[in-house]
Amino acid sequence: MAEKWTPDSWRSKPILQVPDYPDQEALTDVEKRLSTYPPLVFAGEARALKRQLADVAAGKAFLLQGGDCAESFAEHHADHIRDFFRAFLQMAVVLTFAGAQPVVKVGRIAGQFAKPRSSGTETKDGVELPSYRGDIINDIAFTPESRIPDPNRMAMAYRQSAASLNLLRAFAQGGFANLDQVHKWMLGFISDSPQGHRYKVLADRITEALAFMRACGVDSTSVPQFRSTDFFTSHEALLLGYEEAFTRVDSTTGDWYATSGHMLWIGDRTRQPDHAHIEYFRGIKNPIGLKCGPSLTPDGLLELIDKLNPENEAGRLTLICRFGADKVFDHLPQLIRAVEREGRTVVWSCDPMHGNTVTAGGYKTRPFERILKEVESFFAVHRAEGTHAGGVHVEMTGRNVTECTGGAHALTADQLGDRYHTHCDPRLNADQALELAFLIAENLKRERDERQPEAVAAYG
Ligand code: PEP
Ligand code: CO
Repeated sequence: MAEKWTPDSWRSKPILQVPDYPDQEALTDVEKRLSTYPPLVFAGEARALKRQLADVAAGKAFLLQGGDCAESFAEHHADHIRDFFRAFLQMAVVLTFAGAQPVVKVGRIAGQFAKPRSSGTETKDGVELPSYRGDIINDIAFTPESRIPDPNRMAMAYRQSAASLNLLRAFAQGGFANLDQVHKWMLGFISDSPQGHRYKVLADRITEALAFMRACGVDSTSVPQFRSTDFFTSHEALLLGYEEAFTRVDSTTGDWYATSGHMLWIGDRTRQPDHAHIEYFRGIKNPIGLKCGPSLTPDGLLELIDKLNPENEAGRLTLICRFGADKVFDHLPQLIRAVEREGRTVVWSCDPMHGNTVTAGGYKTRPFERILKEVESFFAVHRAEGTHAGGVHVEMTGRNVTECTGGAHALTADQLGDRYHTHCDPRLNADQALELAFLIAENLKRERDERQPEAVAAYG
């Protein structure tokens, strides 16, 4: 018999990565206030996402999850959200058209504010201060005052999430995502790059196909999927006091749902089976993600699956693998075999970012070729095991940043300082994100062709 779960039962468990709030009373006050605020998402939407993820688990769709490593209060511009959404839609359309799979779209946005840190302190020029833990907790400025955790930041993060989500819903449903606009999603600075040209060719073909369908009497007025898209939100649920305040009973089913985002995930540093984060996650009904790093053993994974998805519900659990480009073959096959042997239904997704962070030119960066290599290896392992490479999880932005080295513009370590804006980890810029999407599309096509050899022989 599992122990009784309540939205606050995590509080009696050991916990890692918690901020050291100096004023506990102020913290409790803010958490109480947050628990009276309207939810950001509705349980029915989380269930819709779960159904779409069940299709991914069944090999019938692909999950695209991406956005900033950390959202920030300072960069809350409409342009920033719009450019992210455009870059994301470009990736999605490449995957849908070139990869010929429905794409489940999940942003790492509208709530992605809390950061786990490898070290509790940070030292600069001999001065040691508490680490920056994301704008929902403290401030990035390197001063002692800025680094004091302030609970009022949770209310600010909630309001920013609500505003971002509002705009994203408008973009997704209000015409911006209409396939007739496929050329307009191209961001100015990539229109001259090789990826930009490749995208334009694909967009021309889509426009041609739409014109053909229009001539046949099918267009965006008759098919809503042509003029709008489902877009979901996700974040790492690190700050459990905040999450608890937004954990609400769904009146239609009587179940508990996290309403701070559609999908939440558990970080690689906070997945200890008997700790607070796993306790919190086991009780919410949302679709959830689990980061799987090199220290996760097959038995450790099965133990976590037992806790997080005891009923083996399809779409409930996405395993987000982040081993590092050279370690995929050492870790992924044994995890897949354990899951297959035990008949567990999961979505396999690849985070090619977090295992590939290095320092160069004084900056934290990620070589683009290592990111591509991790994705290629992920697909290769799934091909060998006969399982579906279900998705990717990337840190990306629509801005022309210089944070990851390499890519079509062969960005060097010396150029990282030009436009290095991230508040935490280095992100793909729109050009690199598009290049990655084309690579994934090729792999998806190959996966599909290998699954249907007769079809390929007949039409290939
Ligand atoms: C992240 O996704 O930003 C992150 C910290 O990842 P991980 O938990 O996999 O290290
Ligand atoms: Co990150």
